[in-house]
Amino acid sequence: MSKTHESAVMSYSHEESIDARMQIFALMNSYPASDAEKERSLGLFLRGSLLARILAIADLYKLIVDIPGSIFDVGTWRGQTAVLCENLRAIFEPLHFNRRIVCFDTFEGYQGFSDKDKATELHRDGTYALSGADYAEFLRRLLVLHEKSNAMGHNHGKHQVIKGDCRETIPRFFGENPNEYVALAFFDVNSYEPTLKAFEQIWARLVPGGVTAFWQLTRNTIPAESRVYAEKILGKHAHTLHRSATYPGLCYLVKR
Ligand SMILES: C[S@@+](CC[C@H](N)C(=O)[O-])C[C@H]1O[C@@H](n2cnc3c(N)ncnc32)[C@H](O)[C@@H]1O
Repeated sequence: MSKTHESAVMSYSHEESIDARMQIFALMNSYPASDAEKERSLGLFLRGSLLARILAIADLYKLIVDIPGSIFDVGTWRGQTAVLCENLRAIFEPLHFNRRIVCFDTFEGYQGFSDKDKATELHRDGTYALSGADYAEFLRRLLVLHEKSNAMGHNHGKHQVIKGDCRETIPRFFGENPNEYVALAFFDVNSYEPTLKAFEQIWARLVPGGVTAFWQLTRNTIPAESRVYAEKILGKHAHTLHRSATYPGLCYLVKR
């Protein structure tokens, strides 16, 4: 198995369960069916942990259906959350053509670790790297294909994939789009300074009732989000705090 990121290395599961996972991967890669049948039956190979993640994202999406604003995915990595959000948009609000999704990533891995962070072999500048500009282009294309294949697909090209350090790209985005405000933002860049800078920019443009979601808020091996929360958010920005019912690691703030 590739060991380029933590989910390939770290697991709470016991050996038998990891072995079962490997067997599911093997069955998925050798499953005898046409492409169309395989795609129609992908749930055969969808493990509970990914399903929990998908359900959690859907629960957050439902919170913003009657709230205007864009969706930001900060630290989008392969872009799965963004793709799911486009598909949820098409399910819950197919006529909402102004629900734009903006993905931010270096696509060259983590950037911004400092002495405020606990860098490790798995989490330090450069881990989680993809192919840079090529991956950004791939994700742009994939998002448009999902838009086209969804209901009202003639209206496509709503979303953006922005490559670069979010400490620079988010303020630049707002500078270039002074009309843009945010309904839902996912954070997953996992070092202190980029998390703080991105949060401050986005909170200022987050609408009342808007949601900021943190994938690692309670994880003490990656303390950036919890530190930003404890030092810069708690008691300073009016909100309520919740955790996902299906994916316990995902916590979110609703702006008051
Ligand atoms: C753990 S991965 C994100 C996983 C993704 N959110 C998901 O749910 O599949 C962290 C991502 O943050 C990106 N990243 C880290 N620091 C960044 C920064 N300063 N600016 C932009 N992206 C950054 C990395 O390149 C990496 O793709």
